[in-house]
Amino acid sequence: MMHRHDFLIIGSGIAGLSYALKAARHGTVAVITKKEKAESNTNYAQGGVAAVMSAVDSFDLHVRDTLATGMGLSHRDAVEVMVREGPERLRELIDVGVRFTHRDGMLDLGREGGHSINRIVHANDLTGREIERALVQAVSENPAITTFENHVAVELITEHHTTEKRVIDSENIHCWGAYALDSIGKRVDTFTARVVMLSTGGLGQVYIHTTNPVIATGDGVAMAYRAGARTANMEFIQFHPTTLFNSGSPSYLISEAVRGFGGVLKARNGDEFMQMYDERKSLAPRDIVAYAIDTELKKRGDDFVLLDLRHLPAADLREHFPNIYETCLKRFKLDITKEPIPVVPAAHYSCGGVVTDIDGRTSIQGLYASGEVSMTGVHGANRLASNSLLEALVFSDRAARSSAAYLREQSPDVPAVREWDDSGTFNSEEWILVLHNRREIQQIMWDYVGIVRSDLRLGRAWRRMELIRHEVEAFYKKTKVTEGLLELRNIALCAELIIRCAMKRKESRGLHVTTDYRQRDDEHFLHDTVLEG
Ligand code: FAD
Ligand code: SIN
Repeated sequence: MMHRHDFLIIGSGIAGLSYALKAARHGTVAVITKKEKAESNTNYAQGGVAAVMSAVDSFDLHVRDTLATGMGLSHRDAVEVMVREGPERLRELIDVGVRFTHRDGMLDLGREGGHSINRIVHANDLTGREIERALVQAVSENPAITTFENHVAVELITEHHTTEKRVIDSENIHCWGAYALDSIGKRVDTFTARVVMLSTGGLGQVYIHTTNPVIATGDGVAMAYRAGARTANMEFIQFHPTTLFNSGSPSYLISEAVRGFGGVLKARNGDEFMQMYDERKSLAPRDIVAYAIDTELKKRGDDFVLLDLRHLPAADLREHFPNIYETCLKRFKLDITKEPIPVVPAAHYSCGGVVTDIDGRTSIQGLYASGEVSMTGVHGANRLASNSLLEALVFSDRAARSSAAYLREQSPDVPAVREWDDSGTFNSEEWILVLHNRREIQQIMWDYVGIVRSDLRLGRAWRRMELIRHEVEAFYKKTKVTEGLLELRNIALCAELIIRCAMKRKESRGLHVTTDYRQRDDEHFLHDTVLEG
């Protein structure tokens, strides 16, 4: 089936939906999304959105905290734009209907690691769910926007897919839409558009322990890379230091706001240890805290460390973190006001992704990207807590403006494109291969490309991934597409891109720590790790 719109948006988290509301002022919009429309990383965000919203805060301070956390690799222009435009974008979100927590008539501002001041706007400890609720509602009330749930984007449509033969100039590729698997109707539909927004979120599912829901399989990065887009900084995977030990998959997050509220990290025997790693102790940025926990676990032979809240007033904890309190009590039989919380790190966020300029443009004409899938330059070697939702809001807004201008300049017609052709493929019974390979990749990435890396570990991971990726590609070529197979293919490619970038960076910086090159090396590595697709 063929669908034609002016804008095609892939993904319905904060980046996709906030963009959709603005794009709808300029043309018809299709949003395709993998599962039910609210299912996204956004929906699980706890801590909040960092923004300068109080008289005692300043743009300079937020810029300084972001640059310090990014360890020399953040792009100052992108950071300035995000910080300065953030408050206005947040007020728009409030106008859309998001109900943030207030105290004494003012926004209640929380604190998280790496921030030198309280600046986290939140909706108790379910900030993402509240944002997603309001955006989904606004989008569903907008007649210019059609949402297609259970549609998994398979591949971006470029010059390679037009009916007319064209000379392909790899420096000047255009995007005119995407093929998407209707996972209920079990067919691949063709969506054409003059502007495509990639807002598919992150790739936490590349790792066995992750806070990310099952949708986060790196589809956007993989599709864009295959289409020839520039990607960068894939080695910078952020591991969240505090997820509940043994809480299943995905790992249950204990928000950083809990440390911001006074939670203290201790070893199993009750010893505090963060003072050995950073003067900010438990309030250090997460790269330092995750590294410290990983080191202590290996040194002590323990399975987890403790996050102790017992010194904090129980009523205050229940009031500020009602969802974490209830979930720990009801689902995990743990009263966080009376018992310390056993925690371990888990893969949380991808700082790298599809390279964009500060107006959301990728290296492919007509293809824009925003949110976790993108690499705007804001995060550098490490992301400051709660800057992700802010980045998505700000750059989706800028992309909406620049893509509307692009649309006005384009011819109203897109070239004729071929429909999906799966002749010669068959329905395979080999589902065990998909399941087994997915687990194998996740385990390899956790063991060899995790918090602490080395040349030896990366080499092992590379050799194993090469084998798996060739096997998956061969299987993909002869098999009818399914969601599981598409995700496996994308996870495998993202794993390979992460390893390639990690092998190039022969230093330790931010989230990339390697035992072979323990120091930061500005002389050779003060730049992004760019991969041409
Ligand atoms: P998402 O919200 O992940 O949306 C991606 C969308 O794309 C989804 O709808 C998905 O189904 C869809 N999609 C993916 N692939 C395809 C495909 N092939 N075809 C069609 N659709 C597809 N950040 C903060 O700033 N503050 C926080 O407090 C915070 N807390 C967090 C807590 C948790 C547990 C997690 C996991 C993350 C947290 N983050 C937080 C990070 C932040 O939530 C994400 O980076 C952000 O929500 C990403 O938004 P997005 O719109 O880019 O992607
Ligand atoms: C958290 O609440 O700890 C997550 C915040 C973030 O990822 O920015």
